[in-house]
Amino acid sequence: MSKPIIISGIQPTGNLHIGNYLGAVKNWVELQNSTTQELFIFIADLHALTGTQTAEERRQQILVTAAELIAAGIDPKKTTFFIQSHVPEHSELAWIFNTITPVAELERMTQFKDKSEHQDKNINSGLLTYPVLQAADILLYKATKVPIGQDQVQHLELTRDIARWFNNRYGSPNGGTGEYFKEVKPLLTNTPRVMSLLEPTKKMSKSLGAGHVIELADEPDIILNKIKKAVTANAGGAGAPGVTNLLNLLKQFGSKKNYGEFTEAEKDGTIRYGELKEKLATAVSNYFSDFRKKRAELMENPQALRELLRSGAEQARKRASKTLAEIYSLVGLR
Ligand code: TRP
Repeated sequence: MSKPIIISGIQPTGNLHIGNYLGAVKNWVELQNSTTQELFIFIADLHALTGTQTAEERRQQILVTAAELIAAGIDPKKTTFFIQSHVPEHSELAWIFNTITPVAELERMTQFKDKSEHQDKNINSGLLTYPVLQAADILLYKATKVPIGQDQVQHLELTRDIARWFNNRYGSPNGGTGEYFKEVKPLLTNTPRVMSLLEPTKKMSKSLGAGHVIELADEPDIILNKIKKAVTANAGGAGAPGVTNLLNLLKQFGSKKNYGEFTEAEKDGTIRYGELKEKLATAVSNYFSDFRKKRAELMENPQALRELLRSGAEQARKRASKTLAEIYSLVGLR
């Protein structure tokens, strides 16, 4: 018996930031040390086609994302690490899933509605069928667990629905159990959501603007500058979202002692935001100093990076092509 598979993906639409890191990547790196499960991580370049990057931007960003994930700790020796479009079975299975997914279910997706608002000049059908491709990503490997952020839970529920629709319609060709796909479950981290530095009631996201996020690749002076501009509390109010966010970050990246001191000071009302910001900036800079070095090294040799990715895709395809052959047969195409 092969081990249960855990899979997750990330769109290559921007440099990794600390929200991606704490919400997803850090968790992946921990999961890859499991001896009882197998981890698959991929770069969702086909999903990125639904966005607005130019071809050149996209080509570059795919490579950067690969380098950054490795620099952040994804180890291609432990994890099957690849680029989605290098495994054409993802698109092939997505097409089949399109034919069993009601349009109305896709129109309900919160992310589709949000994106339609944000890119109202480019509401392409790929945006609508985005979660169908995501279901294909997961079910192609018959994965049973998917580490994702809260914002992807609705897509994962749709994946479960698609698995069920498929099972009902095609799952028992010879009167079998009708359970071709097993149940898929989300794995959520309990790290608090990382909020924007400048609008701390919104989730940290590059789409808000560069000053809102701290990228893992940011140099120490940039980190300090961004954190200095972070919104804290206007009238010294305790528990203001900006202050809570900075304290949460200090908890993740700083020492226990520092975190303890600043939390106490916040309660007493003696906290000095300038000091908190300096401590936090140092902590974040130190935490990612190896990352910055590793990233630069990897980007110096893109050929080696491409080779790693090619071999990851080869590994992934073994499993993908097997599933797809079974599915073609189940639906009557073979
Ligand atoms: N939609 C996911 C995101 O934006 C990325 C993604 C694509 C994904 N396919 C996936 C995540 C499959 C988990 C599993 O974060």
